[in-house]
Amino acid sequence: MQSISVELGPRSYEIIIGESLYSRFCDALADHYGDRTCIIVTNTTLARLYPQQLAYWEKRLDAVRVTLPDGERYKTIETWRTVIDALATHSIDRDGIVIAFGGGVIGDIAGFAAAAYARGINYVQAPTTLLSMVDSAVGGKTGVNHEKGKNLVGAFYQPGFVWIDTTMLDTLAQREYVAGYGEVFKYAFIGGEEMATFIADNGTKILQRERGALQEAIARSLRIKAMIVGQDETERTGMRCMLNFGHTFAHALERYCRYETMLHGEAVLWGIACAAYCAKSLRMIEQSHYETFMRLFHHFPDIVVPVINEPHRLYDYMFTDKKTQHGTLRFVLPTAPGHARLVAGVDKEAILDSITFFSRGTIAAARDVFADAV
Ligand SMILES: NC(=O)c1ccc[n+]([C@@H]2O[C@H](COP(=O)([O-])OP(=O)(O)OC[C@H]3O[C@@H](n4cnc5c(N)ncnc54)[C@H](O)[C@@H]3O)[C@@H](O)[C@H]2O)c1
Repeated sequence: MQSISVELGPRSYEIIIGESLYSRFCDALADHYGDRTCIIVTNTTLARLYPQQLAYWEKRLDAVRVTLPDGERYKTIETWRTVIDALATHSIDRDGIVIAFGGGVIGDIAGFAAAAYARGINYVQAPTTLLSMVDSAVGGKTGVNHEKGKNLVGAFYQPGFVWIDTTMLDTLAQREYVAGYGEVFKYAFIGGEEMATFIADNGTKILQRERGALQEAIARSLRIKAMIVGQDETERTGMRCMLNFGHTFAHALERYCRYETMLHGEAVLWGIACAAYCAKSLRMIEQSHYETFMRLFHHFPDIVVPVINEPHRLYDYMFTDKKTQHGTLRFVLPTAPGHARLVAGVDKEAILDSITFFSRGTIAAARDVFADAV
């Protein structure tokens, strides 16, 4: 079992990472909070896959369970309202604790319910997807979608602790797992040279779910995320926007696909490929680094991207990105292994070239972008 601290003064908390941890969760909760009323928020898929674990937690904690329908399309104010209703119906008071047991959708909804109910009650994140383990469960971003935008309604609200049982990943579908790898891969470009080397050396093992490499990848990713969040909790200094590496491209692609065909992490992988291609064509990366970049992209999963017939429309969608300042697009682009920079005023043609290069139904081509290293 490993522990990583997120240092946020009075809002600091621990991330616990290990295997087969579920029976220890109730003791951890009692150690942290004492005897409190708990409400477990999960979804129908996890309820089906983990009936014994949920029954054990419910019994040990004397907890109420709220089981939400599964899917991003339910990440709405209406679903959030059902959690609030359950908290009120069960007379949960300000000492109550919300336990978010699920992927990023459940974590975001349950966290936002905890943030709003009774002006804020405690909550714990128990993430169950790779994406939620390395990204969404840590950092305090909570919220739901609105018809006018994704994650439009929400709050920064930090959990009491984060409980990562990597055994949960055994049941995760490969497509979801690869999407989660997108967020791990991202840290190889923003988390320093050591992380870049680690991913370059272990990418395939991680993709094959080899236990040791996977645990290490999760822990390393979280140390980077914890450090960044600790320096810029509410995205004020520009530090936290590094976590958005690949996301300007990704969010535009997700919108282009009407949030239907691409998983978020898949779009992030595409966005990372575009950002690297763009940085290379702008000569932002010294040739001496190409070999490491090539080794990184060697592990690039070959996900399917819908054919992009209208790159200009996708480009226009980028202007709703939160990094856009006074109508100028800003991109996080790689400069060296593990290092990236926020760049304003990137040439439109360079962006369109990147989109077009990866618009042919697959992004395996990312493996060849740095092929001139050899
Ligand atoms: N708060 C943040 O900082 C942040 C960061 C990134 C993404 N997000 C949000 O996270 C969401 C995406 O999260 P996600 O990728 O975890 O998606 P998700 O929560 O929809 O989970 C993906 C699928 O996997 C299933 N699942 C979950 N755990 C499982 C397990 N152990 N075994 C088998 N199936 C399992 C879910 O039921 C679902 O069908 C998006 O809504 C995104 O906006 C939030």
